[in-house]
Amino acid sequence: MTSDFNKLFKNKAINGWRLFWLISIPISIIIISAMMASDLSSGAGVSHMIGYSVRWTIPFIYIVVGTSSLQILFPSPFSMWLMRNRKYIGLCFAVGMVWQGLFIFIISTFLRDYYFKEIYFFRDELEGTIGYIFLGVMVVTSFQFGRKYVNAMQWKLVHKGGIYFLWAYPYSVYWWNLTYAQPRTIDYILYWGGFIAFALRIAAWGKKRQQKAKRQSAINSVPLIYQTLGGSFIAIGLVATATGWYWQKSVTVFLTSAVWSAELELWLPFWPLEPYLPLLTIALGTLFLTKSMRTA
Ligand code: HEM
Repeated sequence: MTSDFNKLFKNKAINGWRLFWLISIPISIIIISAMMASDLSSGAGVSHMIGYSVRWTIPFIYIVVGTSSLQILFPSPFSMWLMRNRKYIGLCFAVGMVWQGLFIFIISTFLRDYYFKEIYFFRDELEGTIGYIFLGVMVVTSFQFGRKYVNAMQWKLVHKGGIYFLWAYPYSVYWWNLTYAQPRTIDYILYWGGFIAFALRIAAWGKKRQQKAKRQSAINSVPLIYQTLGGSFIAIGLVATATGWYWQKSVTVFLTSAVWSAELELWLPFWPLEPYLPLLTIALGTLFLTKSMRTA
């Protein structure tokens, strides 16, 4: 059975550049069809296309974020296929972002009144621009001609940092969307998709710590105190992930009560990090669950 799957996932039609075209052409056709049905002379019409194109794009960055973790946690022909094609899946994400970029260009160039009245907000602009800069550098350094301008460490820094940043942006957008009065089904899907992608990373990190500790020491049981702390933090993090809309207001008020923090909120991307607090709590729990094994 596994060898059948191996064969299937090695099929040329779903690997490399063919996979890239297989995904990016239909998505571009879908976006062009929606564009033809929209009124691109109005700010609302272009704004709709910005949101529409990016919704087709976000799943790919989530897949890229979760891929290596899936390979660590559940190695299989499928996870190996994802690993092999990570670059091409990342490039599909870039294609979707080019569409979003085109609509952003249209609205900010030809519909400036609408843009500055309805859309422009300094911090969002900063976040979005940083995202596009990361994306551009990542795409260029994914090819041999661009790769020669960076050393291995710079490459890793740009790609790791970029992947996290480009994950963090939509994850926070959908987290905030869920705190609004009437979230759409797609908001739930893309919020939970982002959560699963990052949670896989935390779990894979925990597994690697566990394996390292096992290699270094014969003792591999976790003392009860660490088990309790770890389990509790993870449980609290999971509850917080599923209930952000209940605690968001009070946590935001608390975290921005200091003047310096309120000022940072105006320009520092993602500050004061509300959407990520549950994930940080889960990561802390994982640290406890694997810590004692490392130091034993
Ligand atoms: C300067 C750059 C950017 C600008 C000006 C911008 C502008 C916008 C605007 C106006 C919307 C609202 C569309 C609507 O009416 O529904 C939007 C939505 C969104 N943008 Fe961007 N954006 C930028 C960069 C980015 C980047 C880098 C990402 C991350 C990958 C991103 C992800 C999103 C997401 C997830 C949505 C929500 C789409 C939805 O409605 O589901 N944007 N953006």
